[in-house]
Amino acid sequence: MITDGADDWRARDLAVLWHPCTQMREHHQGDGVLPLLPIERGDGAWLVARDGRRYLDAVSSWWTNLFGHAEPRIGAAIAAQAGVLEQVILAGFSHAPAVELAERLLQVAPREQRADGSWRAPLAKVFYADNGSAGVEVALKMAFHWFHNRGEPRRRKFVALENGYHGETLGALAVGDVPLYRRVYAPLLLEALFAPSPDAFLAEPGESAAQRAERAADGLRELFEQHAGEICALILEPLVQCAGGMRMHDPLYLRRARELCDRHGVFLVADEIAVGFGRTGTLFACEQAPSCADGVAGIQPDLMCVSKGLTGGFLPLAAVLATQRIYDGFLDDSRERAFLHSHSYTGNPLACAAALASLSIFDSDDVLARNLGTSARMAELAAPLVNHRHMADMRQAGMIVAFELTRDGDRRTPFDPAQRVGLRAYRAALERGVVLRPLGDILYWMPPYCVDGEQLALLADVTRAAIDEATACA
Ligand SMILES: Cc1ncc(COP(=O)(O)O)c(C=O)c1O
Repeated sequence: MITDGADDWRARDLAVLWHPCTQMREHHQGDGVLPLLPIERGDGAWLVARDGRRYLDAVSSWWTNLFGHAEPRIGAAIAAQAGVLEQVILAGFSHAPAVELAERLLQVAPREQRADGSWRAPLAKVFYADNGSAGVEVALKMAFHWFHNRGEPRRRKFVALENGYHGETLGALAVGDVPLYRRVYAPLLLEALFAPSPDAFLAEPGESAAQRAERAADGLRELFEQHAGEICALILEPLVQCAGGMRMHDPLYLRRARELCDRHGVFLVADEIAVGFGRTGTLFACEQAPSCADGVAGIQPDLMCVSKGLTGGFLPLAAVLATQRIYDGFLDDSRERAFLHSHSYTGNPLACAAALASLSIFDSDDVLARNLGTSARMAELAAPLVNHRHMADMRQAGMIVAFELTRDGDRRTPFDPAQRVGLRAYRAALERGVVLRPLGDILYWMPPYCVDGEQLALLADVTRAAIDEATACA
């Protein structure tokens, strides 16, 4: 498939690089198993290889890219910032992009109206980190440390959801429940408690997604009761468990989780790293939780982690948004009671400038409104695939559509993993010019928002062809 000196290039790569999330042997086995594509440049929704072939980036380069590759306004903002200040220690020093970005994030963060019409005290402070996993570590440490400072060191357990994913560092892995990533490191991990996933795919026959969410919330309540006074935080991915297979749940669960956290004095950590910045239709997924009584919809977490799309997909950056109450819990004469966590590049000016440019695009291009039309088109194009004989489920949340393939098209009989159906579909799609990186046997669309009708039509055609080819002998 790869020409233009590609074999030379491939040999050079394999001589020196160790790629992420990859069984490297599959690359060494030659072209047949897992292709290694040399990308030279990006152009909107396309990735352009060295041989000139174009690939539609249907997974937004690991869910980071929002407005297309090489978006000129974000590139220009980074270039302008690079000419002024590229980096400065953020302890004892400050700079405009870090402050302005924090102001903007707090302005757009989810707000919550209570049943009596009053508003919950808003998210009020921003702590920066370098990537999603590092942001999750920050949130977990903050939750534990806050209770420690309050003289409640027994509150040191974290509750997470079954099938959730929060990153690869040891703390983030400990609250994740995707066996492929977690199992081998389990002996190293702090012990977390796992509550049932509200995942609608797991609903019993005849059970609605909302009923499934209620049942999962009952499980969460039981866990909170069993461990009363021991839990410092619940962490969850609102609306979509992305790495766990783009499994989606009813927004009602978020309301119930918020209520239970309030009742039990537990912090709610919303991991919006993958779903934030418009992926599910609203700027943040938390906004879709039903209102209590007649209030405005949406719940507000105590801690919210964002990353990935934060910079439009240009530079690594994470932000953890916290309430004033959490911040105040660290103010003291003692340094040990301070949150001493730091990363060298905390609040990097280039990354903050990229994030500011990205947030302005949401306003100037009315992105969320445009996405409504795009997601409706995605639904239309995906609909005919529902009838495929291997389709166990097709689900959508805004700009994310997932296709769950099983042997008989039912919910119980997965393909034999040895058949590598997902990998076959991936290769078949690449040959047709589309990047459809699967999660096991689940294919999904999570394209950059600039994707147009013609590109979506190609995506739909290629998805069908890839599924047909991958399942032909299954
Ligand atoms: C929900 C969620 N949280 C955290 C992370 C970790 O982010 P990063 O890969 O930047 O460490 C991811 C990555 O996919 C994610 O999907």
